[in-house]
Amino acid sequence: MKTQVAIIGGGPSGLLLSQLLHKRGIDSVVLERKTKDHVLGRIRAGVLEQGFVQLMEEAGCADRMHAEGFTHDGALISYGDEIFRVDFTRHTGTPVMVYGQTEVTRDLYDARERAGGRIAFNVEDVVIHGADSDHPHVTYTVGGEAQRLDCDFVAGCDGFHGVSRQTIPLSVRKEYEKVYPFGWLGILSETPPVNHELIYANSSRGFALCSMRNDNLSRYYIQCSLSDSPEDWTDEAFWEELGRRIPQEYAGKLVTGPSIEKSIAPLRSFVTEPMRWGRLFLCGDAAHIVPPTGAKGLNTAASDIHYLYSGLRAFYETGSETGIDAYSARALRRIWKAERFSWWFSSLMHRYPDQSEFDLKMQIADLEFLRSNEAAQKSMAENYVGLPY
Ligand code: APR
Ligand code: PHB
Repeated sequence: MKTQVAIIGGGPSGLLLSQLLHKRGIDSVVLERKTKDHVLGRIRAGVLEQGFVQLMEEAGCADRMHAEGFTHDGALISYGDEIFRVDFTRHTGTPVMVYGQTEVTRDLYDARERAGGRIAFNVEDVVIHGADSDHPHVTYTVGGEAQRLDCDFVAGCDGFHGVSRQTIPLSVRKEYEKVYPFGWLGILSETPPVNHELIYANSSRGFALCSMRNDNLSRYYIQCSLSDSPEDWTDEAFWEELGRRIPQEYAGKLVTGPSIEKSIAPLRSFVTEPMRWGRLFLCGDAAHIVPPTGAKGLNTAASDIHYLYSGLRAFYETGSETGIDAYSARALRRIWKAERFSWWFSSLMHRYPDQSEFDLKMQIADLEFLRSNEAAQKSMAENYVGLPY
């Protein structure tokens, strides 16, 4: 089999790239390790920057998002029983879109299938050959049958645990990592959200986040120990703990119900450099991970895809290699800013096991400054809604 761009990974990064390339008549094949249902069964974040919304519009996949998504102009931040609002739209002129990543991925799959896109599921033993040559190819198996895909370029969109990053030699690759000493226990419940905007809470008992997917589907998180497992938390215990971490005026309004999904995610900051090796380009979680506090995971994947799509489009339409040569440096400049914001917001909102009384005083002072200072709020808002591509 032959294509112009081999895309490893059928998550949001791979699918968005495939759809954008298709819109410009550039052929791709997506190789996905799991089934479509498995990919769509993953519960992930739900805050989209305007840059992502515009990419989905360019891909022709934004209709349902605009119909069912929610535009949010701000979010609440609480510490103890203190609470204040950061108005994103007033500070930046830009809101964010609240629309589940699962729905984004579903819309992208629907678009690829409508366009007759080639997606292979249940692929195994993926190996990238000749990435540092002018004629790379990918081998893999489906159902035990060996396959070969010849291509011009390989887009590694296979997430943190994929094979693409590992294909770049350690002598070429440099990795940066910070592992946080806690996790997020998240639940999904078919209950009305406690508030129409998100609530980020820093309490003496730890972080909590009140989010949503729609008017009757709420998404809540509480900071938990890395030694916890979802089975350690009954629904009742979760609701009680959440109610103790958010301001009482909201705790009293919590509508509880059975969890339809309950999981724990570890928090990590991670970046690998460079994001290109020969004709292999890393995108999204394959290259970088952020703690979910700033909702930057999908949004940094989006800007990677924007830069790579632009470079590949220029290559095929004009022969210019300027865009693909600039890809890694351009993507990393924006990624590191998102890493910094995600680290800063995580440091501001979580209680750390080794936090001293002085550290806590600094955290509260940071929160008081953010609460009272226009420039601080504008800075946070600009990072939250998304820095320019
Ligand atoms: N071969 C083929 N597919 C693979 C392989 C492999 N060796 N390894 C992983 N995959 C697939 C996974 O099954 C997954 O569907 O690659 C896909 C990677 O998708 P994501 O992990 O969602 O990464 P990405 O598309 O970059 O999206 C980033 O998704 O995970 C969230 O927090 C993340 O919001 C961010 C966004
Ligand atoms: C979510 O709705 O899942 C969500 C929202 C904002 C975040 C993280 C997760 O910062």
